[in-house]
Amino acid sequence: MRKTVCSFLVVVAMALCASTVKAQQNAKGLKDAYAGYFDVGVAVNMRNIADEQQIALIKREFNSITAENAMKPGSVHPSKDRWNWREADSVADFCRRNGLKLRGHCLMWHNQIGRWMYQDSQGNLLSKEEFYQNMKEHIFTVVNRYKDVVYAWDVVNEAISDGNGPYRNTPMYQIAGDEFIKMAFIWAHEADPNAVLFYNDYNAAIPEKRNRIYNMIKKLKAEGAPIHAVGMQGHYSIYGPRIEDVDVAIQKYSELVSTIHITELDLRANQEMGGDLNLSTEGVQITPEVKARFEKQYVDLFKVLRKHKQVVRCVTFWNLSDKDSWVGERNYPLLFDAKYQPKDAYHLVKNFNPKEE
Ligand code: XIL
Repeated sequence: MRKTVCSFLVVVAMALCASTVKAQQNAKGLKDAYAGYFDVGVAVNMRNIADEQQIALIKREFNSITAENAMKPGSVHPSKDRWNWREADSVADFCRRNGLKLRGHCLMWHNQIGRWMYQDSQGNLLSKEEFYQNMKEHIFTVVNRYKDVVYAWDVVNEAISDGNGPYRNTPMYQIAGDEFIKMAFIWAHEADPNAVLFYNDYNAAIPEKRNRIYNMIKKLKAEGAPIHAVGMQGHYSIYGPRIEDVDVAIQKYSELVSTIHITELDLRANQEMGGDLNLSTEGVQITPEVKARFEKQYVDLFKVLRKHKQVVRCVTFWNLSDKDSWVGERNYPLLFDAKYQPKDAYHLVKNFNPKEE
């Protein structure tokens, strides 16, 4: 009798596993395959959200949106008294219309920001008071405008240095030290107490930079900055970072915050990594070896991200297809090729086997 019950239970368990695997394979898009793990997002440009086929692809695959450029300080607020809402509004409306989540990117960054924010017309740095006035006005206005649809903000982007650290020596840092980072979070929180507030950076899995980011968040949180979450950009390559480093970085950051997003995922086919805007878009020849590395890096990375599903709540690809990619189509960086067709890597990422984890 006991034996019969046991074999019955084994059969039931096998059937359940088989049905989970099947559900995985029948999943419509990435967002469906990853329901129960994390949201899957995409950064969009203006063409992506105007073209019917691309819209259909976005809606099938993704459930979170980031504006690739439209919400950056330089786009919405090119000079002190000028606001330019057209593109940011159309991304926000696209999300409202289609019931998609929207990550706000970004409030404070040293790139793509009007110089007026921190210097006068002669090029001299503003006083801290004037800088803070500009920053506060900027943050309040943008956060207020989109608070019905933006649920998370990259409040400060890339404030940690790559070389001589810990902080990047930007004009904003020169004016106010790391206090400007704290104030940005305080004002974003005041403007929308419901928004999840991120510190966002690249190479955030590389141990040295990871430690700097970790120490900064710890310090500023102790001083009262409402930093809720870490955005690991994820501009990776097929050669790095080591997946073990991603694993450890997620563990370390989760000591400080309960939410981590991969905010800007792509994998270059050359050796470069990171968020430097002066990147080479030359790419390499996609040999079978390169393709195999590309697939392995994606598969291994997603395995680690799934392992951390309690804290990793969203993974956003930086661009829809290789054709749209800021690192250039010859770098072969995304899961959709330049013709918007899924690559083999797409199926490998999507049809994972939950049983094997
Ligand atoms: C990039 C955009 O993709 C490009 O179109 C733009 O020319 C430069 O910025 N880190 C970030 C993103 O936080 O905002 C950057 O996006 C890529 C690096």
